[in-house]
Amino acid sequence: MTHKPIRKAVFPVAGLGTRFLPATKSMPKEMLPINDRPLIQHVVEEARKAGIEEFIFVTGRQKEMLEEHFDFQPELEQTLESRGKNDMVAKVRASEMKAGQLFLTRQPKPLGLGHAIWCAKKLIGDEPFAILLPDDLVLHDQGCLSQMVDTYNEKGGNVIAVKEVPRADTSKYGIVDIGAVEGNITEVKGLVEKPSPEDAPSTLSVVGRYILQPDVLDHLAAFETGAGNEIQLTDSMAKMIGDRAFHGLKFAGQHYDCGSRLGFIEANIAYGLADTEIGDNVRDILKNYS
Ligand code: G1P
Repeated sequence: MTHKPIRKAVFPVAGLGTRFLPATKSMPKEMLPINDRPLIQHVVEEARKAGIEEFIFVTGRQKEMLEEHFDFQPELEQTLESRGKNDMVAKVRASEMKAGQLFLTRQPKPLGLGHAIWCAKKLIGDEPFAILLPDDLVLHDQGCLSQMVDTYNEKGGNVIAVKEVPRADTSKYGIVDIGAVEGNITEVKGLVEKPSPEDAPSTLSVVGRYILQPDVLDHLAAFETGAGNEIQLTDSMAKMIGDRAFHGLKFAGQHYDCGSRLGFIEANIAYGLADTEIGDNVRDILKNYS
């Protein structure tokens, strides 16, 4: 059976980034760099590798820098070309979004992740789509979303990225109630947003990558609040369980929670080490700190 292709991806980028103040006082947290490119570019590149054609940013106040980043910069390119810096020209070009690929909508108030996704409903339309949270980076050649597309092509329905976390940490994540397990694919029987360790149905957490059917938008439209008094995406996903296939993929690759300062620093070390230009130098520098 063939399933409708995943052509669109939503990037919720309206968050305030309070954990990174004062760095994020006037700069969006999604522009913080991991190695040589901002967080948002890492996730856009991951989406591109997965075949995404339309990139939908849900932005907010003071987030204009994000759209600028993906724009054509003719003066910069000319200057680099005239100086013979062709490697840099290539890097700048790789960060450009072609005409007709970038779509923007705004979330006027921070009412939760579910609400942010609902704000993109017109742009999503009536087709299955992906969501990538720029706080979550996965270092892997194929990319996390591309692995999920493979799972979706096999199973259809909804697919989320999942990973095991310590029980003490369940209250930071969406947690899966696990059904049948087939290798690295788990049937999702239930979903709970940020349960306490005593109440968590498992220790399998939701990582910020989703392939969802558009029905989720109908559930989100009820604007029901959940954990933290926010409109949670997890609660609306839970309402779709039983309607059709719903699976969690234990993806290959290392995950970094760049929404925390420690995860952000670790990601910078890991991406630096993985960089063919500077990896060996980063390894040498680290020897000074062990
Ligand atoms: C969001 C989701 C949560 C998920 C997490 C992954 O939480 O609500 O279910 O586990 O992203 O990063 P947030 O990090 O926005 O609190």
